[in-house]
Amino acid sequence: MTNLSAVQALSSMPGLPVLSGRSDYEAALERLRAASGAYYADGDSAMDDATYDQLRLAVLAWETEHPDEVVADSPTGQVGDGAAPVGDIAHTTRLLSLDNVFNADGLVAWGESLQRRLGHEPVGGFTVEPKLDGAAVAARYQAGRLVQIITRGDGSSGEDVSHVIGQIEGLPEQLPVAATFEVRGEVLFTQEQFEAANEVRTAHGAQVFANPRNGTAGTLRAKDRPYRLMMTCRTYGAVELDGEAFLPAGATHAEVLAAVARAGVRTTADTPAGLHVVATLAEAQQRVDEIAALRPGLPFGIDGVVIKVNDAAEQEAAGLGNRFPYFAVAFKLPAVERQTVLEDVVWEVGRTGVLAPTAILAPVLIDGSTVTRATLHNPADIRRRDLHLGDTVTVYKAGDIIPRVQAAVVPLRPAGAVEVPLPQECPSCGGEINKTQERWRCAKGAACALPALIEYAAGREMLDIDGLGRTYVKALVDAGDVTDVADLFGLSLEQLTTASGSSKRAAKLAEQIEAAKARPLNRVVCALGVLGTGRSISRRIARHFGTMEAVRGADALAMQAVDGIGPEKAPVIVEQIAALAPVIDKLAAAGVNMTEPQDTSAAKESGPLAGKVVVVTGKMTGALEGRGRDAMNVLIEKAGGRAGSSVSPKTSILVSAPSAGGKPSSKAVKAAELGVEVLAPEAFAELVADFLA
Ligand code: IVH
Repeated sequence: MTNLSAVQALSSMPGLPVLSGRSDYEAALERLRAASGAYYADGDSAMDDATYDQLRLAVLAWETEHPDEVVADSPTGQVGDGAAPVGDIAHTTRLLSLDNVFNADGLVAWGESLQRRLGHEPVGGFTVEPKLDGAAVAARYQAGRLVQIITRGDGSSGEDVSHVIGQIEGLPEQLPVAATFEVRGEVLFTQEQFEAANEVRTAHGAQVFANPRNGTAGTLRAKDRPYRLMMTCRTYGAVELDGEAFLPAGATHAEVLAAVARAGVRTTADTPAGLHVVATLAEAQQRVDEIAALRPGLPFGIDGVVIKVNDAAEQEAAGLGNRFPYFAVAFKLPAVERQTVLEDVVWEVGRTGVLAPTAILAPVLIDGSTVTRATLHNPADIRRRDLHLGDTVTVYKAGDIIPRVQAAVVPLRPAGAVEVPLPQECPSCGGEINKTQERWRCAKGAACALPALIEYAAGREMLDIDGLGRTYVKALVDAGDVTDVADLFGLSLEQLTTASGSSKRAAKLAEQIEAAKARPLNRVVCALGVLGTGRSISRRIARHFGTMEAVRGADALAMQAVDGIGPEKAPVIVEQIAALAPVIDKLAAAGVNMTEPQDTSAAKESGPLAGKVVVVTGKMTGALEGRGRDAMNVLIEKAGGRAGSSVSPKTSILVSAPSAGGKPSSKAVKAAELGVEVLAPEAFAELVADFLA
């Protein structure tokens, strides 16, 4: 009944709940039953997959240690954890579930137990295919015609859901051959189908689905909806039906799927993740990693990778357990969807004047990174998803994708929760909002954010166009001469004269603009005004990539290689840089420099601050007097260090003037607590004396 490899995986999963006694165990069983019961009843899960899996593992661990106390109807011993609605159609042979492993060690352990069962290593090798995240079905073909679709149910019998025949891409109603057989596969919504389905549901006044899998389960069960939603099926197995010999005798798993494909039914082999035949488990692990890497780009969700013994005789020799076969195992991938609390929604005005809502979330770990913000698209979308402040929401994130809020878990809504408020006025300029389209905009459009953006770009620490202050910028924007930062480089003397009111000033400005073309890449990157890239990050981006071409070529993963850019920021930066393509092209065409001089590499290795993180606080004195935060950061990086903004255990040095009034700054207190070295500006100046010029 217990599942060894899952229990072995326990030791390598930090943060698992631990059940301390019988009553804990019983309470955990109740929670499992309630969660899976709700999921199967209406496709709405009150617990996310990762939480559910962890609780289930804790129950398994307890059951392993207390074999005499395991309750007879424990969900862990039943297909679908005993909660799936059982229908009245008997399956031809049992539809089993899969044993899970969570890491490479788990897979090795599974291989060892398989070897014990077989008495040797499998000689016929393994197959590796995606574990599709949907709902299992059996589909029966008689003489080439799709006659029945049945859900998994309890594995022995399921529900007849033949009403979806004709709605499932991959399970054609009529095959080109008159074959009789039964396929087993996973029905799901592709991302595209999922979005289309939610549009149809919204149009019918129905709630959007919480996620594709819940939507699939609900759609299979709903027999009398006034609309039809397209789904997809990829099959991963087949059995004989009505005693008709369809499958070649002794066919391997790969051959079974090939026969199914030849008959016109689509299989897991026919997905971008594919079906791979390998000789050893070590190679299987490589394929697992490859499929995991493909996951963000797949057109549908996968929650793991399935490894199966390929040879039919060896499959049979391995045998079947109560819930799952011993010849196959699921390598589970980290959840990409979690539940968390929607704490707030903030609105920012983008470059084009669009009001962009961002969800502020209670921090939640998804696929290895902590998510605290997620995109919310537009006001109509917020209303469609019926989001209230304080709602527990499902949040979806995969690889490079910017996390997004999928739906509210309505049963968990706190009493008195209010709908997410929508802005009454432009959050940037306080002016009117244009609500004629789904995406609201400031009525001033790009002009709302533009003057501030241009003024910022022309500033001393960016393009450093001396003399181009707020008044002239405003005049240029109002005249329509400047619609983005690149337009600065195409201004005629006439335009500059009109804006500044004097031909002499215009000539000076033109000179400054010409000089600005030679600024290093880091300043150009910064001048673009990409959210999340201030001076320091822009410098690191420029230094890391060296050329604008390389910056533009970076995907979110490559962007994360830059110091200080994490998985949350990376996709946002990549997306904005892509959106800025026309502006960047215009800058390049105007002759603006697009490369970063690489002169600090020596200091990085051997400078006095090499490998050190330095935080600066308070006013600088002595030789450093008058240096602002940015100038200090430049200095630190020149000397081979890295500038930090807050004191943490990673901080090497805090530069801080001794407090005059006797009350030390909060940073100094923190530094003392952590044992971080504190240097007065004078002492720090000595340390970096060679770089002060
Ligand atoms: S094989 C006899 N292969 O995952 C082996 N299952 O968590 C039965 N699933 O019940 C399953 N993709 O609904 C297999 N490529 C795949 C799969 C797959 C998704 C589902 C299936 C199964 C569940 C177990």
